[in-house]
Amino acid sequence: MVAGLRISVEISENKSIRIRGPARISIIDGECYISGAKLSKGSQVVISAYKSQAIYSRSRARVEIELGEGAGVDVAKPEEEPLFEWLETAYKLATKGSRVVVIGPTESGKTSFSVLLANIAIEQGLRPCIVDGDVGQEDIGPPGFVALSCPSKQFVWLRDLEPQAMRFIGHNNPLMGSYRLIASIADLVSKASTQSDLIVINTDGWVSSPQAIEMKLDIARYVGASHIVALAGGSFMGHLPRKGFAEIVVLRSPQGVRVRSREERRALRSQAYKKAFEGSVMRSFSISEVIITGSCLFSGSPVSGEELSQLSEALSTKVLYASILENTIYAFTEGGRESDKPLRLRDGREVVVIPKGSEKGLLCSLVSRAREEYPCIVDSVDPENLRINVVTRYQGDVSAIIIGRIKLDESYEDSWRGSRCQI
Ligand SMILES: Nc1ncnc2c1ncn2[C@@H]1O[C@H](COP(=O)(O)OP(=O)(O)OP(=O)(O)O)[C@@H](O)[C@H]1O
Ligand SMILES: [Mg+2]
Repeated sequence: MVAGLRISVEISENKSIRIRGPARISIIDGECYISGAKLSKGSQVVISAYKSQAIYSRSRARVEIELGEGAGVDVAKPEEEPLFEWLETAYKLATKGSRVVVIGPTESGKTSFSVLLANIAIEQGLRPCIVDGDVGQEDIGPPGFVALSCPSKQFVWLRDLEPQAMRFIGHNNPLMGSYRLIASIADLVSKASTQSDLIVINTDGWVSSPQAIEMKLDIARYVGASHIVALAGGSFMGHLPRKGFAEIVVLRSPQGVRVRSREERRALRSQAYKKAFEGSVMRSFSISEVIITGSCLFSGSPVSGEELSQLSEALSTKVLYASILENTIYAFTEGGRESDKPLRLRDGREVVVIPKGSEKGLLCSLVSRAREEYPCIVDSVDPENLRINVVTRYQGDVSAIIIGRIKLDESYEDSWRGSRCQI
């Protein structure tokens, strides 16, 4: 953060101020709270350039705020600030056995409410777990995964939590990976249930179609939600009853929040990937010793050497490895270009050309025998020795590799996201 203007602000009893980052806050006197986390005298918190945040006091407090470029401080009008209603709800929901699914559009405060609820639970002496099911803007794990964390101490940013378990979706669009998304969230919730008093489930911001609402309600059903918290005044929920298989709690969203641009969202994702892959090393696996899913090339039966030569001739490029499934041949080639549409051979079969190198950068997941999952990035496929090389931080046993539909470039930007398999 660039050092800038410093101001001293007094926050009166049960009042809040709104800060737009980048800013550094130092508590000079009294106690303050951000997202339900208590900040005592002498502590400091940084609000990133991508965020705004409300800070409040239960008694009188004085803070010093250092404002970076573009930062600002103001007092939200009561009709813009739902914080105290959020707190009231959080105290009601912070009880043993609660399973709270938080839903709402993007920038509606889902992550902030999830953090607030977890912090209030900790304040009450309860053990919360958070399942971050927002696969596109995942904070606990890298995007493309959903992750679980069970904090024992209060925290300000979800991003500061370390993942205790992750499940790979392989897409960062909830619609494309929806079956895996629901199964993974339910799986993490079941894992969390053995080590927590209550579970908060954060979801993605896709609520703009009936299908999206259906998916959110399916998540709530399959995790056995006690409550669904609907932000943005629940306006996207239509005429649903306030009580069904779970109690529906409608909350307002804060107004005047710092809205993140597409580029900022991409930068946030890139930061999260970087964090997941720092200190990674290369690992190599034999294709015959691990299950590979999410790949076209390794789904069918390998073709014989003779057929490889015929294919090379037909495609005018060296085919290094190929497999066949039903009437489609997947050919891993030395050169050539990936074709938008499959090519048709004279005998009527289709060929999908996968040029060597198109595997580099694909986000993947290593599955241990205990079914835990760890992020990896495909480096290369070695067709001669039938091996797949990946980079990862994970060092333990591996029983399967799941290949995703997200490709990362050298600077951890998701340069390609698609629906078809890349290898
Ligand atoms: N009371 C508040 N006052 C001002 N800003 C707030 C307040 N509560 C949350 N914010 C900010 O509003 C922005 C959106 O909140 P948040 O990230 O929680 O929403 P979200 O629904 O999880 O968004 P996304 O769908 O992008 O994950 C964030 O910058 C957050 O810090
Ligand atoms: Mg969020």
